[in-house]
Amino acid sequence: ELADRRALLLEINKQAAKYFYCKLRTPGGADAMAYLKRRGLSDETIRMFGLGYSDKYNNDLYQFLKKKGYSDELLKDSGLFNVDERHGMYDKFWNRVIYPIMDVNNRVIGFGGRVMGDAKPKYLNSPETKIFDKSRNLYGLNAARTSRRRNLIICEGYMDVISMHQAGFTNAVASLGTALTSQQAGLLKRYTDEVLIIYDSDEAGVRAALRAIPMLRSVGLATKVVNLRPHKDPDEFIQKEGMEAFEERLERAENSFLFEVRILQGNYDLTDPQGRTDFFHEVAGKLLKFEDEIERNSYLEAVARLYHIQADMLEKLVNKLALKGVGLAEQ
Ligand code: UTP
Ligand code: MN
Ligand code: MN
Ligand code: MN
Ligand code: MN
Repeated sequence: ELADRRALLLEINKQAAKYFYCKLRTPGGADAMAYLKRRGLSDETIRMFGLGYSDKYNNDLYQFLKKKGYSDELLKDSGLFNVDERHGMYDKFWNRVIYPIMDVNNRVIGFGGRVMGDAKPKYLNSPETKIFDKSRNLYGLNAARTSRRRNLIICEGYMDVISMHQAGFTNAVASLGTALTSQQAGLLKRYTDEVLIIYDSDEAGVRAALRAIPMLRSVGLATKVVNLRPHKDPDEFIQKEGMEAFEERLERAENSFLFEVRILQGNYDLTDPQGRTDFFHEVAGKLLKFEDEIERNSYLEAVARLYHIQADMLEKLVNKLALKGVGLAEQ
């Protein structure tokens, strides 16, 4: 029963994706097509990602699916429609470029829709449904899973994934407009051992990276952070600097622990004795969490080198904290 229902919802999404896809290629979709071209996407990329357009009529998708015989109750569950007393059911996506969201098996599980101008909200997304669990899927993973590149890249947005794929970085995926979840980290781990975080270079992106790192680490993924500055996201970087420069940034990705320490450093004034003391105490606390001795020591030496402190000194501090941890301090 539930399985049947899920199958029907997948079927509805597939029909809707086709509908949007065709609309993009009608005269009514010309502005949307021009928008995608202006953003540098080729016909092949637009086709590969199944991009589409939801037009300016507010219930044509509804009519289309009704004619196919789906019940209102089922259509309600698809998340493709809004319902209110006065207007009944009408299309959720109105005059937006459509990004179908696929699961790893290429089944359409939801949609994102972008305005073509500056209206808010910039993106509308399908709500969670019986077939769309945002915390357990990653945009672009259906394509990235077969990439020949040796790691996976996690970024913020639809356009970032698409731009990277078009530029040959076919290993890019995005979390679906939410913070990376532990289930998504687990999903990544099924396909790779190393993840490059390439979030937007604004403050929100840095915060999101700081939250993602422990999540990725805890499932055993080696993690690095890519710096895009002065550009704001991978899409913009590639448009402005091209793929060679982008590849170079990937190669220069920063070890995620050293990234964390560098961000932490921003909270302290290292020219001030108190600032230095507090900073290195906090770093020592982080070093303490490495259980493997070689690993801990490698990081300790890297920090000592980068922040100009004697490795011995830092090591003593770590050992002191370790003793405190088991209640042996001051003995
Ligand atoms: P950004 O605001 O960084 O947008 O959001 P973007 O991807 O760079 O968009 P463009 O380049 O202007 O088209 C990153 C991601 O967060 C989600 C979307 O998944 C988006 O791709 N988001 C953002 C939303 O879901 N809703 C919003 O209103 C904005
Ligand atoms: Mn419509
Ligand atoms: Mn952003
Ligand atoms: Mn962008
Ligand atoms: Mn962005």
